[in-house]
Amino acid sequence: MNIHKQIGVDLASFDRLLREVVISDRDLSPPSVVLESVVNLINSGGKRLRPLMVMLGSRFGVSGHESAVMKTAVLLEYLHMASLVHDDIIDQSDMRRGMPTLHETTDVQTAVHIGNYMIARAIEWAAGHPGEESDGASEAVSEEDAYRLAELAALVTELCMGEYDQLHHRFNYDLTMEQYLEKTRCKTALLMAHCLKAGAEAAKADARTAELLFQFGEALGMAFQIRDDLLDFTQSKETIGKPAGADLRNGNITLPVIYALNEPALAAKIRQLGPGSADADMDEVILRIAGSSATEQSEELARSYAEQVQLMIGELADHPARCDLQALLHYFLP
Ligand code: IPE
Ligand code: IPE
Ligand code: MG
Ligand code: MG
Repeated sequence: MNIHKQIGVDLASFDRLLREVVISDRDLSPPSVVLESVVNLINSGGKRLRPLMVMLGSRFGVSGHESAVMKTAVLLEYLHMASLVHDDIIDQSDMRRGMPTLHETTDVQTAVHIGNYMIARAIEWAAGHPGEESDGASEAVSEEDAYRLAELAALVTELCMGEYDQLHHRFNYDLTMEQYLEKTRCKTALLMAHCLKAGAEAAKADARTAELLFQFGEALGMAFQIRDDLLDFTQSKETIGKPAGADLRNGNITLPVIYALNEPALAAKIRQLGPGSADADMDEVILRIAGSSATEQSEELARSYAEQVQLMIGELADHPARCDLQALLHYFLP
């Protein structure tokens, strides 16, 4: 059974809501490349882990806030999808979810704009402006709403800085473990942490529970990105639906590379690689890293984050929804 069914989340109706965000935008009159591109992105699938985390977080609150929870889930999935559109441009990646990436089917300039549009439109929609002609009346933003918006903006800023740090350190083989962990936290873990916390807050959970869920999501997000970095070395393009071995080829120094640099013979080979290296040299080093103990070491670090997560589930022992957290953890690290 898939994780959504197991946790009892209806993905089809969630996807309808995702599409509604662009379909209801009166500024996009069909035929529109923007409208079609966003609908195609939604239809291309994706695991919808972030909305799932929002909905799961909301189960630690009280019922009656379903609409606010769904809005939060939609908004955060849009931020995620837009970040992937931009990430694929930065990583020069031609495939995602087994399909050509947006900048491949349109062009880089168009895809940059569509990513920006998705972030802005999702915020506009979630703030209650359906995109229709305005009658000029504007509702006052509450202090709580303003705080949430500022938190959201800070999250996007940190995501951008995580991606920027990664770019800035291309082919920097002296990247430290601390630097790797910090950029991973910014580009991936904080969004997942925010999803659980925002879901809990939308459903009026208490502050202590929302904070624990944030920490849970952060550690789970770290484990998730470490495993993604590992799969880039160990799995095929067909399995992961995106180019394999692409991180090192792009100069992206991930955890398996940091561990492999501790092995002198392999380190010498790695340090010879740069932006102009021949494909055959890259392929050889990627294979050697995949076959080295760096992969087990990376898996071990992912597991140690999972152990932290397990401890946090213990702290949420009073809540019936803790079983859903356990299922989520099991899904992330079977
Ligand atoms: C991909 O995230 C980006 C990373 C943080 C590794 P997902 O693997 O959740 O992407 P989709 O939405 O399911 O395609
Ligand atoms: C995650 O990093 C991307 C974002 C957080 C935006 P990756 O570059 O590893 O993600 P994939 O492998 O392209 O999905
Ligand atoms: Mg990428
Ligand atoms: Mg990756």
